[in-house]
Amino acid sequence: MTLRQAHEPDRQAAADPATAVRATGVGKTFATRTGEVIALTGVDLAVAAGEFVSLIGPSGCGKSTLLRLIADLDAASTGTLEIFGKPAARARVDQDYGIAFQQAGLLPWRTVAANIALPLELHRVARGERQARVSELAELVGLSEFVDRYPDQLSGGMQQRVAIARALAARPRLLLMDEPFGALDEMTREYLQSELVRIAAETGAAVVFVTHSIPEAVFLSDRVVVMSPRPGRITTVVPTALGVRDEALRESPAYFERVTAVREALHGMPRTRADER
Ligand SMILES: Nc1ncnc2c1ncn2[C@@H]1O[C@H](COP(=O)(O)OP(=O)(O)OP(=O)(O)O)[C@@H](O)[C@H]1O
Ligand SMILES: [Mg+2]
Repeated sequence: MTLRQAHEPDRQAAADPATAVRATGVGKTFATRTGEVIALTGVDLAVAAGEFVSLIGPSGCGKSTLLRLIADLDAASTGTLEIFGKPAARARVDQDYGIAFQQAGLLPWRTVAANIALPLELHRVARGERQARVSELAELVGLSEFVDRYPDQLSGGMQQRVAIARALAARPRLLLMDEPFGALDEMTREYLQSELVRIAAETGAAVVFVTHSIPEAVFLSDRVVVMSPRPGRITTVVPTALGVRDEALRESPAYFERVTAVREALHGMPRTRADER
């Protein structure tokens, strides 16, 4: 099954439980010593089940903030967030999503297998089932031969793959990823992009993916959400409609066309705003 087949447009219009993320009028204001910082304002976004959406925008435009609100790691100042039709706090308790951020964030004293097993332990999955699931996940990310290694014995790319396996452990229907490949070399990065596309298609998970890379956003996503400088808001949504994500795609005219569309959407925005603090 290709990623494209997993989310036909009609599924994007489905009712709430089929909508992985629904943000309505979401704003976030931080109180700081020098006054209030409006990080996000008026964000409306719906991510369909199984859909891959990237967030892109200049540094400080609120991408991580939005992801943290979706993950219920912080509370919105205005608006509502629903995850599969539930309040964000409930979705966190139900472990409806897995998280992978820029730093792999592995526990150095745990082996690869024990790192992947962590969410399963937290949810009291029985030992036998846990071991079977860890083997399955290690295979999915191509690390079957490394399960007994420790994180410092792995390359950065391998550590990221462990973090992705861990994020997938509890079979989340939603993956939240904040620049997970930011620190990797270009070849490893492209390899992991292809892996992620394959994994998302195989598991049917929706993905909200933050990146600074236009080509990465276009290669991975069904839609690229472009955000403005502070106060962060969504300015443009670029649907990619590129079909199968294989290596040939990276050199296709359609791909370059979407890269250009996203670049123009990003550069078309004003560098400073009257309402910026
Ligand atoms: N806890 C906080 N307290 C005060 N201000 C904050 C806090 N977290 C974020 N901000 C501010 O909110 C704005 C958005 O930050 P955020 O980290 O979401 O940006 P970003 O788009 O992820 O940037 P980058 O691309 O650099 O990661 C920034 O101006 C930041 O300084
Ligand atoms: Mg960020």
